[in-house]
Amino acid sequence: MTLPDTMTALVLREDGYASGGSGDMPTDLAPFVELTTLAVPQPKEGQALIKVARAAVNPSDLMFVSGQYGQPRKAGMPAGFEGVGEVVAGDTPLLGQRVSFFGLGWGTWAEYAMADARMMIPLRPDLRDEDAAGLIVNPMTAMAMFDIVRADGAGAFLFTAGGSQLGKFLIGLAKDAGIAAIPVVRRTEQAEALKALGAADVLVSTASDFADRTKAVMAEHGPRILLDAVADQVAADLFFAMPRGARWVCYGRLATTPPRLDQMGQFIFMGKRIEGFWLSSWMRETPPETVAAIVGEVQARFASGAWHTDVSEVLPLAEALDRFPKALAAKDAKVLIAP
Ligand SMILES: NC(=O)c1ccc[n+]([C@@H]2O[C@H](COP(=O)([O-])OP(=O)(O)OC[C@H]3O[C@@H](n4cnc5c(N)ncnc54)[C@H](OP(=O)(O)O)[C@@H]3O)[C@@H](O)[C@H]2O)c1
Repeated sequence: MTLPDTMTALVLREDGYASGGSGDMPTDLAPFVELTTLAVPQPKEGQALIKVARAAVNPSDLMFVSGQYGQPRKAGMPAGFEGVGEVVAGDTPLLGQRVSFFGLGWGTWAEYAMADARMMIPLRPDLRDEDAAGLIVNPMTAMAMFDIVRADGAGAFLFTAGGSQLGKFLIGLAKDAGIAAIPVVRRTEQAEALKALGAADVLVSTASDFADRTKAVMAEHGPRILLDAVADQVAADLFFAMPRGARWVCYGRLATTPPRLDQMGQFIFMGKRIEGFWLSSWMRETPPETVAAIVGEVQARFASGAWHTDVSEVLPLAEALDRFPKALAAKDAKVLIAP
């Protein structure tokens, strides 16, 4: 295949971290990325070049471009952590194949992106591009965190940001395993859809009966694990209302105001603990054969329809900056970029 010399991409405007980031997830990305023409990168040893078909736009991308994520930005580099596309160059047997991949320093919000040749995921032909674009960040996190629930022997678990795409994946896993998944949401209108997916119950944190409903859920299900993407006072209060031995696994901090912890005795007398989860660390620490087996399971779940990525809009790369504010304000579905 003849490759062009140049391409367009949404590149980072700034280096490093934001000083005093607000904690807010931005919807207007114009202050952080710009549409630019730049040279198509040449893969070096161990690298592959991918013609991007679809790129995901996840909360981690929004926090990263605004300098509020766990790794520093590099001005001039394309943004975007993950995507799907065809391998067009590089020293790899996957040349010509459709793969899901994680950008190797070179993000996916671009016509071409670089990947670690050993880390690309060759795709089953029956997988939709909409699912393949976000095959790594949320699905792998859902699988890994659900393993925490399973390994703990918990019969029930709570999770916040319950209507998120990741939350919907957790509900599917729990339903199949016969474990009660109880999402916590802040909008009442999400409850029925999540129950229809298989949630055992739904807690609405803004409802006037939240405290009573929480008591009832604790009494009926006794959830021992809280998978928390929000890290706010609601999460803290839920954790302190959970039974002996409860674990609060914090994997996101969507809230701008952190919680106050006022029942420290529970750590001493009730064996409770707080921990964190980050997919990047999990990937480094997990044997490659285990990761490969989970990748296979993830693809099978999408192919069988057990999982489905809800997509609200696919934005052409050239229009993405103008259309992000409205597209990202929409609820309950993902925005993708089509370079
Ligand atoms: N640690 C890791 O390795 C890892 C990996 C993957 C994902 N994550 C995290 O997982 C979370 C979900 O990701 P996703 O892509 O599935 O999300 P998503 O589909 O984009 O949905 C975001 C969800 O977060 C909720 N939300 C946002 N701000 C909130 C707040 N202040 N209080 C309560 N709920 C809030 C939204 O609720 P509304 O609809 O009410 O706005 C929405 O349901 C994100 O925090 C992401 O960073 C972490």
